[in-house]
Amino acid sequence: MGSIIAPSILASNFACLGDEVASVTAAGADWIHCDVMDGDFVPNISFGEPIVKAAGRHTGLPLDVHLMIQRPDRYIGQFMDIPGVASVTSHLEANHDAGITLDTVRAAGKKAGLSIKPGTPLDQARELFGRFDILLIMTVEPGFGGQPFMTEMLGKIREADRLRKDLGLGFLIEVDGGIDATTAALCREAGADVMVAGTSVFKAADRAAEIRALRG
Ligand code: DX5
Ligand code: ZN
Repeated sequence: MGSIIAPSILASNFACLGDEVASVTAAGADWIHCDVMDGDFVPNISFGEPIVKAAGRHTGLPLDVHLMIQRPDRYIGQFMDIPGVASVTSHLEANHDAGITLDTVRAAGKKAGLSIKPGTPLDQARELFGRFDILLIMTVEPGFGGQPFMTEMLGKIREADRLRKDLGLGFLIEVDGGIDATTAALCREAGADVMVAGTSVFKAADRAAEIRALRG
């Protein structure tokens, strides 16, 4: 069984977002990844709730919302209310009580995701193990698409995989940043389940072939 493939619409042509979302849906994507950036938690602004909602109208796939924002606790409600949103991920490093944010997302019946930046050791998330459904390990510094994969993150993926087995937990390990067919294979081998891919999917000449290659 291959990986779950989540194309990131950050790399799509926003001028025809509906067609872009429909295209990767037809090409075999599993989830649609939506990167929300506030220009504060990360040095870039992408889009917010109206765009996620608009994207959702053009696919039946689960929407996977990745909040790269400060105070995500203030905004999770509006994202969870969007039809099609299945998972909401926020960052450990953002200024909120991450445990409460995770509990709130779970209480709403959605998958609760916790993300950690490349510089954050897995240890810092230890006390939250058991309270999230997805661990999103950033494989680039969050903020921009098109950056090279940080090979050093493979160790963190392995460590997360080992810990979840030791603890008997069933959360998914998601990787995000610089994922193409080659780096996806490395991440899968290290234990990752969900591959977020922006540039590699949206810039591919044949998106269906790219998604098959990513899936492994
Ligand atoms: C980076 C975002 C990623 C980004 C990945 O901050 O979280 O989801 O879109 O883009 P690529 O696949 O181009 O590295
Ligand atoms: Zn992302």
